[in-house]
Amino acid sequence: MNSRESGIGNTSRTAVENGKTGTQKPMPHDEVIRAEALGKTYAEGKLRTPVFDGLELSVHAGETVAIVGASGAGKSTLLHLLGGLDTPTAGEVFVSGQKMSALSDAARGQLRNRALGFVYQFHHLLPEFTALENVMMPVMLGGAEAPAAAQRAKALLEQVGLGHRIEHKPGELSGGERQRAAVARALVNQPACVLGDEPTGNLDEKTAATVFELMLELNRAQKTSLVLVTHDRRLARRLDRVLELHEGKLRELAPGEA
Ligand SMILES: Nc1ncnc2c1ncn2[C@@H]1O[C@H](COP(=O)(O)OP(=O)(O)OP(=O)(O)O)[C@@H](O)[C@H]1O
Ligand SMILES: [Mg+2]
Repeated sequence: MNSRESGIGNTSRTAVENGKTGTQKPMPHDEVIRAEALGKTYAEGKLRTPVFDGLELSVHAGETVAIVGASGAGKSTLLHLLGGLDTPTAGEVFVSGQKMSALSDAARGQLRNRALGFVYQFHHLLPEFTALENVMMPVMLGGAEAPAAAQRAKALLEQVGLGHRIEHKPGELSGGERQRAAVARALVNQPACVLGDEPTGNLDEKTAATVFELMLELNRAQKTSLVLVTHDRRLARRLDRVLELHEGKLRELAPGEA
């Protein structure tokens, strides 16, 4: 069974769990991420920074969604909440039908590893490990043995055009190569959804286009949903939907507006 099939299994488990709390609407089976009445206010000492409140978002299997908005609008904050890397101050996030707040830290970590992939503006590869080891890591965290993990990691590195660089450490790769390795790492567990925070923002135009195309290609091949924060409207328009985060609200832009 691949992770997508197991994701569907999880949806039905969560339907039961949701029934227990009695607060949830039924969740469509193909919904990979849902945010309900999501709110975040940063609070440090006396300083309170409200970012958004009452935000709703639903991402379906295989769907590609761009999130655009001014600097400081809350795009990274939103992505962190969707990925379970930070906790909301209001509302709920569901990943593959599982309510994030209802999970233990360990279970949330497992779900994140299995159902989600992350690509950041700066690659976040571990510097002391090779490209191969970096991409193997999520597979091994999922419980696979090293030879099987290596096989999958290698196949994906080949897919992103890095078959000849698998023994290189991040410091020995070019910026575009590093980002492609990061894309391979994000996709190696066949996640239901990849969350990208300006994944091509740090690359020159041509390399950015190559990495972006690669993500779209993998989206089509693996039916992986993509939620990508980008400042590049031209890239954003290539995705199924463009959502703008503005003054704490998420608004879908019409094709002509995006
Ligand atoms: N840990 C934090 N504590 C307090 N405020 C924060 C924290 N992280 C972010 N903020 C504030 O929350 C707001 C949203 O930040 P966020 O990083 O989500 O913006 P963004 O839309 O990703 O911007 P950019 O396009 O510049 O990356 C900003 O005003 C920021 O200053
Ligand atoms: Mg940001």
